[in-house]
Amino acid sequence: MGEESAGGAVGVGDAVLLAPLTEDTFLHNLQLRYKHDIIYTYAGGAVISVNPCRRLALYSAELARAYVARAPYQLPPHVYAVAATAYRCVRDRRQPQCIVVTGESGSGKTEAARVCLQCAVVAGGGGASAAAGAGVGLTAAGTLLEAFGHAATLRNHNASRFGKLLDVELDFRGDPAGGHVTHYLLEKSRVTGVAEGERNFHVFYQLLAGADPHLLKRLKLQRNAGSYRILRSGSPVWSDAPHTHVAPTTDGDEQHFAFTTAAMRTVGLEGTSGGVLRMLAFILKLGNVEFVPAPHIDGSLAARASNYYEVSEACALVGVDEEALLGVLGAAPPRSRTPPVGSPPLLEEPHHDEGVCGPANGEGAAWAAAARDRLLATLYSRLFVWLVGAVNDHIQPRDLARRPTLAILDMYGLECLERNALEQLVINYAAERVQHIVTGVARREQELYEREGLPWQRIPFADDRQEPLADLLDNGPDSVVGTLRECSARGLPDSAFVQRLGRRRDPRLLPLPPHLFQIQHFGGPITYSASGIVDKNRDGVCARAAAVLRAAREPLLRLLFPDGPSPRRPAALACRQRALLAALSQRLAGGPPPRLVRCLRADAALRPRHFDAHLIRHQIRTQSIMEMVQIRRAGWCEAMCARELVARYIVLKARSARSTSGSPVRVARRLVRALPLPAAEFAYGRTKVFIRSPRTLWELEALRWARVVRLVTVVQRAWRRHRERAHARRQHQAQKTIARAWRRHKAECTQEVSEEHNESCVVKVCTQSITCGNMSQKQQRAHAAAASRRTAWAATTIQYHYVQWLRRRYLTTLWSRLPAHHMSPLCAAWPLCPAPRLLGSLDTLLQRIHHRWRCHKYRLSFDQTARNRMREKVTASILFKDRKQNYPRSVAHPFVGDYVRLRASAAWRRACAVAAPHRPHPDHYVVFADVVGKVTRSNGRVRPALAVVSTSALLLLEARTLRVKRRVPAPDVYRLSLSPFADDVLVVHVRACPGPEMEPDADTGVQWSGGAGGTAGCLFAASGEAGARTGDLVLQTCHVLELATKLFLVVQNAVGAPPHVNIAAEFEANFGQQIVTISFVATGGAVAGSSGSSARLVRRGSRMDVLV
Ligand SMILES: Nc1ncnc2c1ncn2[C@@H]1O[C@H](COP(=O)(O)OP(=O)(O)OP(=O)(O)O)[C@@H](O)[C@H]1O
Ligand SMILES: [Mg+2]
Repeated sequence: MGEESAGGAVGVGDAVLLAPLTEDTFLHNLQLRYKHDIIYTYAGGAVISVNPCRRLALYSAELARAYVARAPYQLPPHVYAVAATAYRCVRDRRQPQCIVVTGESGSGKTEAARVCLQCAVVAGGGGASAAAGAGVGLTAAGTLLEAFGHAATLRNHNASRFGKLLDVELDFRGDPAGGHVTHYLLEKSRVTGVAEGERNFHVFYQLLAGADPHLLKRLKLQRNAGSYRILRSGSPVWSDAPHTHVAPTTDGDEQHFAFTTAAMRTVGLEGTSGGVLRMLAFILKLGNVEFVPAPHIDGSLAARASNYYEVSEACALVGVDEEALLGVLGAAPPRSRTPPVGSPPLLEEPHHDEGVCGPANGEGAAWAAAARDRLLATLYSRLFVWLVGAVNDHIQPRDLARRPTLAILDMYGLECLERNALEQLVINYAAERVQHIVTGVARREQELYEREGLPWQRIPFADDRQEPLADLLDNGPDSVVGTLRECSARGLPDSAFVQRLGRRRDPRLLPLPPHLFQIQHFGGPITYSASGIVDKNRDGVCARAAAVLRAAREPLLRLLFPDGPSPRRPAALACRQRALLAALSQRLAGGPPPRLVRCLRADAALRPRHFDAHLIRHQIRTQSIMEMVQIRRAGWCEAMCARELVARYIVLKARSARSTSGSPVRVARRLVRALPLPAAEFAYGRTKVFIRSPRTLWELEALRWARVVRLVTVVQRAWRRHRERAHARRQHQAQKTIARAWRRHKAECTQEVSEEHNESCVVKVCTQSITCGNMSQKQQRAHAAAASRRTAWAATTIQYHYVQWLRRRYLTTLWSRLPAHHMSPLCAAWPLCPAPRLLGSLDTLLQRIHHRWRCHKYRLSFDQTARNRMREKVTASILFKDRKQNYPRSVAHPFVGDYVRLRASAAWRRACAVAAPHRPHPDHYVVFADVVGKVTRSNGRVRPALAVVSTSALLLLEARTLRVKRRVPAPDVYRLSLSPFADDVLVVHVRACPGPEMEPDADTGVQWSGGAGGTAGCLFAASGEAGARTGDLVLQTCHVLELATKLFLVVQNAVGAPPHVNIAAEFEANFGQQIVTISFVATGGAVAGSSGSSARLVRRGSRMDVLV
């Protein structure tokens, strides 16, 4: 096997093409692809996914659509391909489909199931908003249930603690119309018992990390998760895992809380979300209640709550009577004189109460603590069940129509923890059942080949000769579940359960008395603890406790403990799981074979880029993956009932060549032979036709689709022809009616003229009687009425068509003359079209819509830089429009800012770096830079200088050496003065607080300051004559409006308030030692000899005249 094929693909995309196909080549192929971040490989129609343990850019809506639109063999292997194939089957054939995702814990099942759902939602929800809404609801349901039903274990930081079967209902277009979640038992014991290094359910941590302080206060909670007993375990193992990007950190919890609350809103729980959060707070706080032994009067020990405030706060949250609650927990409230005698409260299952609801002598505190834990676990699991119900209510389709479903099964993976109890048994039992379903598919496939008489050599499975382990677990009274049920029903102790397990006499079921037993699962042997297993399995609820909670003020709590005795005794835990799994098995065995996604865990510690070949080999062996690949290689990808095949593909034959004589298989064979497909791709059984590769199946579908499209075109053409003919007939009729009416009208006119000439009353009567023959008067009237009706109808028809024609002509002309898209929205050009009076308002309306659309397009083309530029332009307009004469000239020119390319200057950057080596220099960000004229205030002469506006100051530098002449920090600028004329003079008024003089930097020649007088943070400082450093600046530049605008914005950003912009023909300026009046005199033309500027400045004593 080559490392890289000619096409650039790594390894072999479909494992059935491996030559030779052995476990080693299969494993090597997976490893090779994994090394190149290719985690998916086909095994026939199934996909094998190796968990990359890090985010890869493998998923997007476009890609999902591509997989739905194209054949799977045209694209690289992907889980989208399985989802898309299932989706197309549901959409096109209306056949229900199920995607089964398997693998051990942490192999990536939940991720794969999420990707499948995304594919179905993206493929379907493109069009209608209702479909999009259903898709959003389904996704939100996943997020919400993940928060409440997932937790970090030693094997996976996002381990599913419940199994989920999501049914997505697709309507006839393929859009999701709704769905339903079936959940398998939640591992509720986690609520009160978190093993070392693991976490409780995510939602608790999310609530504490993400709730705002007000919410926390309302719920009487503290932010620190360590304050809650039920959240405390050893140090979380995942916090220092190498792939911290997915580890559950506080930051992650905070963010996920936002997702969870958003999901609650999406599934319509905004009204009850407060109640849900109160329930969580109640569980957290009640979990903190500790019990200490308290002596009875008779000397026996009962219990007392040591931190009573936790009870009262918890009870106040949901309105529960705290004394009653403590009473049912067997603990005395502090005010009661005597602790309650531990009378066993009644259970919902009365014959179970011994040993459950009454403390044994001297064990009061432990008993109360156990009762508390039991109550909390029940409360959480009921809350979870209620949540699933609420989600289902929201996502179920609005109507009762029956639609085929696309189901996605994400079951818990086989897991072996340090201490395995009933919960692990229930989880592993479910994993075992799913494994049995998956191998059962392959087994049934082989049986089918044999039954249909195909030449087939059976591929044996490792456990072919044994009874399936899943049956050993649940089939018969002496199975594990059966024994457990019997012990729970008869109230036998745990040791009896362990002893009775030996009755089955199967080496895979090993009792280890008194309190352990071992089961040889498909993934390896797992030892379980039987301590308390019988009691836990009963899953009873203390009736008195239920009554206390039912009386709570919190409506949600009342809902979780409904009134009245339950009509049937609740089934034991393992039996409930058995019923759910039996329904699942039955469903999958009765429908089309499920589509498989086999997930593999590449590394035990979920480290990215680690491929543990031994671990993968173990999974391949134990999950019978090689057998599946071999069956796919030797077998057929699709088995179709011959009758169905004929019904579906008969359209591919010409009508004349269709013959249905003979058995369905013979008809199918004749049909297939006539198609341009290789005959070797098909095999014929007794009742079914088998198709070898998915490619052939796809090509068959493609042929059918092309034919259907052709037929639809023919039907459409025929319908259009019929419609046009009917239309033409009507028009012809109308034309005839008009012609008739017109001729009659003409005849009447002619008649009138002749009457005038021939005094023709008599003639008229005669003529009429001649025209009407011998009609009666009634008939004549009816005739005339019919004629006028026809005339009116004809006129309406003509008018209608005329108006249509006018509209069409107007729209087509308008379309061809519309202004170009790229033209500025300011351009008011609008084509003159033949728009009659009838369309006058439409023309104006369209013009407005078109203008808004062009503005919209224009805005879309704006990036952040363009937006900033526009902001500057708008500011310039606000400041100078109608106030300064040269403003209109500046409008068309963009504000370039850096006219001398200072930002790219090495000397400038060096200077900034030297002045502030470890952080960006405050003047590093240049907003404006240009050579301007600096007016010498003593004589009005103009000298060139480099003016730089940074985000924090205005600088004047020597253009050649970049030596700083003056630096004015932005907060010191308080006013900008300009004249209303078209001159280029700007006066920058500076507060009288000069900075200290500094020596220029030796290397760069730029002078920097870090002194007390400058603005904090090593700014430029002024140099030169002391007098020049103080007072206002007079500048002359051809970009005067740009400079003023940018300075205005910089000051506004730096200070929070803009400087005053003064536009006047005469104002005062501070020239250091003197206040000088600057006066602008319009001379009516450009003044010569003023170094290219349009103004000349003359200083006369305390006046400076600017001749414009
Ligand atoms: N395709 C993938 N891309 C990136 N990361 C993945 C992928 N599949 C799985 N992972 C990572 O591996 C972790 C475990 O995956 P996931 O929770 O889906 O396993 P699981 O099989 O559902 O386990 P469990 O049976 O315990 O629920 C995920 O949280 C995720 O970080
Ligand atoms: Mg999972």
